[in-house]
Amino acid sequence: MRKKVIAGNWKMNMLPNEAIEFIQEFAPLVKDTQNEVILCVPYTDLFYVLLNTQDTNIKVGAQNMHWEENGAYTGEVSAKMLKSIGVKYVIIGHSERRAYFAETDETVNKKVKTALENELTPIVCVGETLEQREQGLTKDIITNQTKLALDGLDESQVEKVIIAYEPIWAIGTGKTATSEDANDSVKAIREEISKIYGQNVANRVIIQYGGSVKSSNAKELFTTSDIDGGLVGGASLKAEEFAKIVNYEL
Ligand code: 13P
Repeated sequence: MRKKVIAGNWKMNMLPNEAIEFIQEFAPLVKDTQNEVILCVPYTDLFYVLLNTQDTNIKVGAQNMHWEENGAYTGEVSAKMLKSIGVKYVIIGHSERRAYFAETDETVNKKVKTALENELTPIVCVGETLEQREQGLTKDIITNQTKLALDGLDESQVEKVIIAYEPIWAIGTGKTATSEDANDSVKAIREEISKIYGQNVANRVIIQYGGSVKSSNAKELFTTSDIDGGLVGGASLKAEEFAKIVNYEL
């Protein structure tokens, strides 16, 4: 059985003092969960969040990284830097990075490889635009993005990757994919992984859903056959609300 993995993506929100307050409220609320809980926070919060989650079940992730180990890349942060302070996860290829910061399938693939080489778990985002959806291209787009993100990895590496299916039209809009629809897309991603890497690998890969997840729809989404938890934006900024999502089965 795959475990449920529920990650918050704070995006460009939360100052260190707000992050610390959040954790003080959030940690006791999720201490008994069997689900994996991750907070993906801005670089400037990482150190504070790592310190304040030390004695908790909360894991910490970054929201981006560079694919090179080091060098003249002003403003960038490497996988090794993240690893050195205790970060365990990193979001790669979020649609906002693809749309506003020229992230491509090729850079996503390079980053996934570097993350794995540095023992970081990549949370790789894939998802279609509204236009692509209306043209009936959803499955083609998301399976192709998945294939390209994983290109060149071996089976044992693919098993370590988390995929987040995030339909772009559902991000920050309040519009959620229906659980049936989201599960169908997640299934299509799993089938693509099965075609390339075999059924056993596909059965083990964690595939999340993201896009306007909230406490009122988490249970319906996370209890489908193929959705293994969520990547949560806006609703992860409020401790009580995010805790309800993490504890969705209660
Ligand atoms: P919202 O939950 O705010 O729609 O954001 C989803 C997302 O982009 C998570 O990475």
